[in-house]
Amino acid sequence: MTEATATLVTGIAELTTNDAELGLLADAALVLSGERVVWAGPARQAPAADERVDVEGRAVLPGWVDSHTHLVFAGERSAEFAARLAGQPYGAGGIATTVAATRAASDAVLAATLRRLVAEALRQGTTCLETKTGYGLTTAEEVRAARLAAEHVDEVTFLGAHVVPPDWQGTAGDYAALVGGEMLDAVTPFVRWADVFCERGAFDADATRSVLSAAARAGLGLRVHGNQLGHGPGAALAVEYGAASVDHCTYLSDSDVDALAASDTVATLLPACDLSTRQPLPDARRLLDAGVTVALASNCNPGSSYTTSMAFCVATAVLQQHMTVAEAVRAATWGGARALRRERGDGAVGVLCPGARADVHVLDAPSAAHLAYRPGVPLTHAVWRRGTREV
Ligand code: NIG
Repeated sequence: MTEATATLVTGIAELTTNDAELGLLADAALVLSGERVVWAGPARQAPAADERVDVEGRAVLPGWVDSHTHLVFAGERSAEFAARLAGQPYGAGGIATTVAATRAASDAVLAATLRRLVAEALRQGTTCLETKTGYGLTTAEEVRAARLAAEHVDEVTFLGAHVVPPDWQGTAGDYAALVGGEMLDAVTPFVRWADVFCERGAFDADATRSVLSAAARAGLGLRVHGNQLGHGPGAALAVEYGAASVDHCTYLSDSDVDALAASDTVATLLPACDLSTRQPLPDARRLLDAGVTVALASNCNPGSSYTTSMAFCVATAVLQQHMTVAEAVRAATWGGARALRRERGDGAVGVLCPGARADVHVLDAPSAAHLAYRPGVPLTHAVWRRGTREV
């Protein structure tokens, strides 16, 4: 077997490793071989390699880890967005529009959208993506969504409990039983995670409990959409069930924050969604100061957050949510990886240290501070994913 070519990446002005020992390095280098990082450290100590790429004084980060998206859909909802700008509130009801469009779309159309958005994200430095089902809401449609998602992204989440579909109105308990029964059994081969939208207008605490319990029995990891549109039981249930993350967290009580701080559940903030739905931006400082692990994700979907830009999320978190640049970058890389339980071990993502996946994001800037200092400017200069240069 031939040895993989070792590539020395040099000329790194600032290297964010997210590694406890390596930390943030100035004047650094990296060595990539095959799909892995094999060395990271000060440039003066860099080992020899087969080839060398000089990034000429730019900043280097782990690729973004976008731990919350909904990419299996058809159609778009710009008319709903325009209505929001005119004062209509965002509600879970719009999801039904996308459900109808998605059910009517062919596999080829859904796969083309997935490919387009994954490529769009990659061009902006996103190298690890989670996506959810949830716009099918029948057993056959949820299986189709899970199968297509598994062909295109790193992590797939079953979100049959997104909303009660129009054909089940008035029988939410029966629909939740279907989700936690036949639907869950059918999608399990394609997914690692199950999620519930625990919110007024979607699933209440009892229905959330029944789906999370069934998913846990089936061996899936758990996630919860919680506390997006108002205070509610989502975050507390996520902690009670040991979910890997609770996502949105726009409205958290002090006891929610305390429970999260004492748990392994990551609070995933979705600033692009809060802006698009005209919700308040939650104060990340409150969470960080309490000791909560925070992730940032795009929540790319056609209703509440139609963007793949993790850089936009980072800039917003810094400019509006009281995160430092270092905290926001960590939340969009290591934090996302932690929310997906992929932050350690062989092939870890969101970190740049020996053994990590060679997912590398070179900014066209000397420091990560430029992500917030120059918001909206496309700053991705180069991207390696699994050791292959993609951008
Ligand atoms: O995470 N909150 C529920 N689900 C999505 C929105 C989906 C939609 O509006 O189509 C979210 O924001």
